Amino acid sequence: MHFSTVRCHCRCALTFARARSVARRARALPPSLLLPLLLLPLPPLRSRAEKTPFPESPAPAMSDDAPPPPDEEMLKVLYPASAIAARVAELGAELERHYRDKAPVVLPVMTGALPFAADLIRAIRPRVKGLVVECVRAKSYFATSEVRAASVAVGDVGVDVRGRHVLLVEDIVDTGHTMEKLKAKVLENGAATVAMVSLLNKRARRVTGTQPEFAGFDCDDEFVVGYGLDFCGEFREVPYVGVLKPEVAASEHFTKQG
Ligand code: IMP
Repeated sequence: MHFSTVRCHCRCALTFARARSVARRARALPPSLLLPLLLLPLPPLRSRAEKTPFPESPAPAMSDDAPPPPDEEMLKVLYPASAIAARVAELGAELERHYRDKAPVVLPVMTGALPFAADLIRAIRPRVKGLVVECVRAKSYFATSEVRAASVAVGDVGVDVRGRHVLLVEDIVDTGHTMEKLKAKVLENGAATVAMVSLLNKRARRVTGTQPEFAGFDCDDEFVVGYGLDFCGEFREVPYVGVLKPEVAASEHFTKQG
């Protein structure tokens, strides 16, 4: 006999034995008690699919609209995820109007622009014909959040930009050196035009005198992390932009890496 059939038979036998034992006990009850018991309403029959294997879980403490609490390393949240999403939607609409007939080459600057670029390109609606996306790498060297050097290394542009309208996507423009270097490289490679969209613009820190053509938010001179922006490689995955507690930035975990 098949194993599942044996299991089924055993279960039936068990149920039958239980029913017999209940009936035996019921017979022992006085009729004055048995009658009200029989008149009690039965629970509705539930199909097998409806039966939950676990007790019902309590209602979630937070509604979907409530922002999640910030991470414990944060001193403050500057731009919550909802504010970023709203601004990205506006930027997407603005870029669609600007590049509608220009078949642009969109070049996110890795790695900081990764989350911003992923959201932004999907906000450029309706679809812009001929729009292509490639990545470019840029690395500016600074050891801590306080000490920054102007040394910038720009990688190869992995796509033919000759005669094309190029839009660089950055997480933040600070001194402006990286933006200058990137734009110069793209123009050297023969682009017709080059512009930059940056999520954040630290105007007060600019030493090159130039501004990104499109920007999400003007940002004060504070070291920020999250939504692509890192500190020693960490915090890029955080869904909002915030400022670290000073003791976190100065902690051994990070100073050891420097
Ligand atoms: P810039 O060349 O001085 O404009 O610096 C640009 C780069 O510096 C950005 O792409 C970031 O990688 C980095 N950077 C500047 N300010 C911040 C900050 O507040 N948080 C994290 N990274 C920053």
